[in-house]
Amino acid sequence: MDPEAIILSIEALKLCQETGISPSSALYLVSKKKRYTIKELRMARKILHTYSIYRKSASRYLENIISDSMLDWVSKTILELISSCIIGGIDFGDITILVSKLRQSMGKNWPEELEKHLGILRLIYSRPEVEVNYPIWFTRYLEKIMGKMDAEYYLDFQDRVNPPIYASLNILKMDKEKILKLAEERNVVLKEDNRIPDIYLVETSNTKGLKDLMNQGLITIHDFSSYYAVKILKPKPNELVLDVCSAPGTKTWLTALEMKNKGVIISIDSSWKRIKSQVKRMNFLNVRIVEVIQADATKPLPIRLEVDKVIVDPPCSSTGLIWREPFYRWVIKPRHIKMFSNFQSKILQNSSRHVKQGGYLIYSTCSITIEENEHVVEDFLRINPNFELVEPSLSIGSHGLRGLAEARRLYPHTDMCNGFFIALFMRRY
Ligand SMILES: C[S@@+](CC[C@H](N)C(=O)[O-])C[C@H]1O[C@@H](n2cnc3c(N)ncnc32)[C@H](O)[C@@H]1O
Repeated sequence: MDPEAIILSIEALKLCQETGISPSSALYLVSKKKRYTIKELRMARKILHTYSIYRKSASRYLENIISDSMLDWVSKTILELISSCIIGGIDFGDITILVSKLRQSMGKNWPEELEKHLGILRLIYSRPEVEVNYPIWFTRYLEKIMGKMDAEYYLDFQDRVNPPIYASLNILKMDKEKILKLAEERNVVLKEDNRIPDIYLVETSNTKGLKDLMNQGLITIHDFSSYYAVKILKPKPNELVLDVCSAPGTKTWLTALEMKNKGVIISIDSSWKRIKSQVKRMNFLNVRIVEVIQADATKPLPIRLEVDKVIVDPPCSSTGLIWREPFYRWVIKPRHIKMFSNFQSKILQNSSRHVKQGGYLIYSTCSITIEENEHVVEDFLRINPNFELVEPSLSIGSHGLRGLAEARRLYPHTDMCNGFFIALFMRRY
């Protein structure tokens, strides 16, 4: 194997460590410094992905053999990175040849002290089994909510199967048929997902053709769950919709598609930076019906309106995103869950004040914890008897827990999308 992908991955990890950004963002920034081939970039992405999953297992294994204090950061990272990849099944071929190529390419940056520990890599080759690839609290949590066997399948599935790419067509810019024809001409295979209309599975290895369509704003990539949430809410042309915690605007954009760019969407988010990028994105996608407001939704919202439909998509612990972002498993801590839960309840309560009688509100998170979902819904219904949970007309995924049959839960291993929770409420009086 060409050592460039490994060196690129090490540089990305170094940037992560210095700045705290995610490995995928770091890889993007580091890869701009030099010309890399598509093959090297793809391999580096695969290496970092595998490292995210198996880092803890590799590190535990190494700790048993070698004391942490004996290694500097670069040596430790190289050892952990290569070990993670070996455990994760990446075939580096002959490890001695790989190491000698790495030594040559890194030149004076090659850490001399690593030389005496290289035997460990050969040892790992002969002992590839992995004990734990998730924090114990997360494994236990899943076992509690879905049973041991299902939890095991879920966790293993996330690490074994790549997430699919979903797309929607921008009919605000061009007719559906014309976009599909352009896609066909570029060898981009779009297969309609038969669970809900208007969402496509991208089945193509022609990334250039795909990027081309995205750069023209003709298709957008997002998870299945985002469109499902909007389809459940059923926004219609000429309605007034409030979108709370809206940035970067995926649900705003999908709502505008359903409304055929007619009516008004009021988008609220607390981050000015994210609002600015949402506005840019909406202009690019030809969305003409959005008014943005910067506001903290944990406080009463600065509007005096009752609207047809409300979307509440507050920040969450992101436990449902581990399939796409394997690194998150080591970042999310149990204390975040409780913190988000309080925050979400406040945002839901403030947003609900703007639903008109007979109007609808959708509450969604990309977390699978009970605290951020069922508990928030139960507390809300307890203090707002004028709202009721409604069964969505499109029934995908599984029921909510704790007897909330009308709520929906989506999981990677059963629904091929992010872990997601959705509850649809109607204001009765
Ligand atoms: C899960 S993201 C929303 C994703 C968005 N709905 C979409 O579909 O693209 C959560 C958003 O909540 C915003 N946010 C965080 N705290 C907030 C608060 N107190 N009030 C309003 N928005 C907040 C964040 O800036 C972030 O953009």
